[in-house]
Amino acid sequence: MEINKNVEDDGVIFMSIKENGNEIHGSAGSGGDDAGDVTILAIESSCDETAAAVVRNGREVLSNIISSQIALHTVYGGVVPEIASRKHVEKINGCVRAALSEAKLTLDDIDAVAVTYGPGLVGALLVGVSEAKAIAYAKKKPLIGVHHIEGHICANYIENKDLKPPFACLVVSGGHSHLVIVRDYGEYEIIGQTRDDAAGEAFDKVARAIGLGYPGGPKIDKAAKEGNPDAFTFPQAKIAGADYDFSFSGLKSSVLNYINQAKMQGQELDANDVAASFQKAVVEVLSEHAIRACKEYGMDCLAIAGGVASNTALRELLEKECAANNIKFCRPSPVLCTDNAAMIGSAAYYEFIKGKTFGLDLNAVPNLPLGDRERRYHADKNR
Ligand code: KG4
Ligand code: ZN
Repeated sequence: MEINKNVEDDGVIFMSIKENGNEIHGSAGSGGDDAGDVTILAIESSCDETAAAVVRNGREVLSNIISSQIALHTVYGGVVPEIASRKHVEKINGCVRAALSEAKLTLDDIDAVAVTYGPGLVGALLVGVSEAKAIAYAKKKPLIGVHHIEGHICANYIENKDLKPPFACLVVSGGHSHLVIVRDYGEYEIIGQTRDDAAGEAFDKVARAIGLGYPGGPKIDKAAKEGNPDAFTFPQAKIAGADYDFSFSGLKSSVLNYINQAKMQGQELDANDVAASFQKAVVEVLSEHAIRACKEYGMDCLAIAGGVASNTALRELLEKECAANNIKFCRPSPVLCTDNAAMIGSAAYYEFIKGKTFGLDLNAVPNLPLGDRERRYHADKNR
């Protein structure tokens, strides 16, 4: 992946992501598409990234634009929803324009518009949903609402061209920790989930406590490389009767207690050691659950998804464990693990070819559960 970055005057980082440094991946740029090709313009604005992408046939990324507000929220130690919504409003048209221009296409060339409609921050989601609805209405294009987590899972299709369901997927982001069996395209069986904090949330909270700041995940990842993962033994929760569920709040509290105790005793705290030991506890639990799920559910392929899936230690451990257990390991590049619109375009394709489109009454659903699409699906005729 080649990432071209540009820091704008307001601190927002504008990124254009290209595969292997090629102008654009696949056949795009060579002109139009073949009959039967499906080209989707996808939009994502569920948190603090405004993103637009053009994806052909679910796996070929013609353009992938991300406008990241992360620097704006860093000073507050986390995402401020009101700031996020306002920035999305400012950035979204530019992202869509850039995505179309990099794909060398116009709105007339696309077959459908896709957008994340939940879960996420309601004010943030609404910006993307309104943009997608406006384009769908003005250009008379089908509209496809996509579940954000489903998008994360589908990021795996982009770089693993042969990946097909069924497979197991560990979804670990800032708001979710799910262990999912992907039975078919768009069909998900959740076999485990967090009882309290999501994995990314635990990374963010611990990073704040040891003074690394926001966003915690990447900072802990970096600090851990300089630390000793065996310096401290933090607890790894097991939940009786729910073998695949996770719990990270006990682990987080244990780290916080240690930090407070050290402070009270006037001890010097080695943040790198704490980061490495905490990270080890998290990734070992995630890996153990995922490998056991593959074995018990007879899955010969494990995929990972979500922001925490870009964690170096998690990727290394799963690579080792999958090899030892004869399981194929699929993972998107780190930039496709965190929020982007290419993954939304991939998920939307598999809905589109099933004929599933949404009406213009599509709304943002901040707490949309995974697997709830059927109930919220509106046939095209309702438009
Ligand atoms: O998927 P994502 O970009 O947004 C959500 O849908 O939540 O995930 C963001 C989360 C944050 O909690 C962030 O700290 C975490 O992913 N994260 C990481 C890493 N990069 C991002 N956690 C651990 N290691 C990383 N390298
Ligand atoms: Zn996400």
